[in-house]
Amino acid sequence: MEEKNRNVTLTYNEGQDAIDLPVLDGTLGPNVVDIRSFAKTGMFTFDPGFLATASCESKITFIDGDLGQLYYRGYPIEELAEGADYLETCYLLIYGELPTSEQKKEFVYIVSHHTMVHEQLAAFFKGFRRDSHPMAMMVGVTGALSAFYQDSMDYTKENDRSVAAYRLISKMPTIAAMCYRYTNGLPFMYPRNDLSYSANFMHMMFATPCETYEPNPVLERALDRIMILHADHEQNASTSTVRLAGSSGANPFACVAAGIACLWGPAHGGANEAVLKMLDEIGDVSNVAAFMEGVKAKTHKLMGFGHRVYKNMDPRASIMRRTCYEVLDELGLQDDPQFKLAMALEKIALEDPYFIERKLYPNVDFYSGIVLSALGIPVSMFTAIFAMARTVGWVSHWNEMISDPHQKIGRPRQLYTGAQRRAFMPIDQRK
Ligand code: CMC
Repeated sequence: MEEKNRNVTLTYNEGQDAIDLPVLDGTLGPNVVDIRSFAKTGMFTFDPGFLATASCESKITFIDGDLGQLYYRGYPIEELAEGADYLETCYLLIYGELPTSEQKKEFVYIVSHHTMVHEQLAAFFKGFRRDSHPMAMMVGVTGALSAFYQDSMDYTKENDRSVAAYRLISKMPTIAAMCYRYTNGLPFMYPRNDLSYSANFMHMMFATPCETYEPNPVLERALDRIMILHADHEQNASTSTVRLAGSSGANPFACVAAGIACLWGPAHGGANEAVLKMLDEIGDVSNVAAFMEGVKAKTHKLMGFGHRVYKNMDPRASIMRRTCYEVLDELGLQDDPQFKLAMALEKIALEDPYFIERKLYPNVDFYSGIVLSALGIPVSMFTAIFAMARTVGWVSHWNEMISDPHQKIGRPRQLYTGAQRRAFMPIDQRK
């Protein structure tokens, strides 16, 4: 981080005192004011929701929300979605550079040879109710991985951090597919190393011991693209959760389980599931106008619209929109009523002053749910697939944080507005 000879001077105590705070430059995006020395004024800064706070320094992902730009390690998402596959993207996020062919070959080999999970994990699943939500199982099973993989846990060593990263990236599709199979009473399918990352996931979801699953290349590519688009997104809520959990030195499986828990919320990764539920509730194009009235009256939100950072079209949404058309074309579903309904909502929202004034545009989840649904993936699995894709982002950030020699435990302060000191009252004297 470069520190220029520029400061922001803050005066306080009615102008009697002042503090100089350095301004730090990034390579892209806004500068930040370094407030680390601010506590010596005897005050804290107050920023719930981190609306104006950079929580860390990072070299992984850059977003310009106003321009609608997203770069992984400097590469625009559009170029990666077009030219790279998911495992190349994973390599880029973890190591900072795109792999050569040799490096990619080795990486693919390592990832595909870590996809099996400990057999005991299958028994672990049996403790869940059959109607458990896949995300409930994902949180539990991922957290439990630390009980199964107890070697290579000295995370001060680069090698041990890499082993944790491989294990998580490789095993997450296996675990996600197991969640689906378990709720449907289907036997777990072992991974197949001859398939791509995405095709192997579809095999574990849809094959049976009696029938193989032949992946359709258009659908395989669509899933791979969903994986690329969801691989990382800077300091979003779940990534910040993983960083905060990891800042105490917690093991990466537990940290990623915390990230999955955070991702589950409908304001974050649960949005693609919420989009499909919303479409089901609206039911028909003729109900769109009434639904929109409710949105403006703030009785409900238009799910899949709006973003904390993007105040322009989410660049991932533009790519997913195209993928949506490709998949529906391939499957002959252009006239699918749910898709038509989504397009009607999109059109109205993009032209409505309520959305224009608030800079609310479709986000990636508005379209990814429709694509996943067309791939035959049930709605309850959508967020689990998001978690599977985002695992690489989480481990890359965890790795970046742990390797930073200046890393400290994350410990925010607060504005306390509770009771002042008062005397304890014995129970028989309380009214
Ligand atoms: N539908 C209707 N109104 C909305 C919506 C929406 N989807 N999103 C924001 N608004 C309104 C909000 O009511 C507020 O209006 P006003 O200024 O009159 O009070 C204004 O727009 C600003 O919204 P905000 O809630 O202050 O914005 P935020 O940055 O805190 O929230 C968000 C961002 C994503 C949580 C929110 O837009 C939302 O809940 N969207 C729907 C859920 C969704 O699609 N989430 C997926 C996000 S993309 C996936 C990911 O990266 O995790």
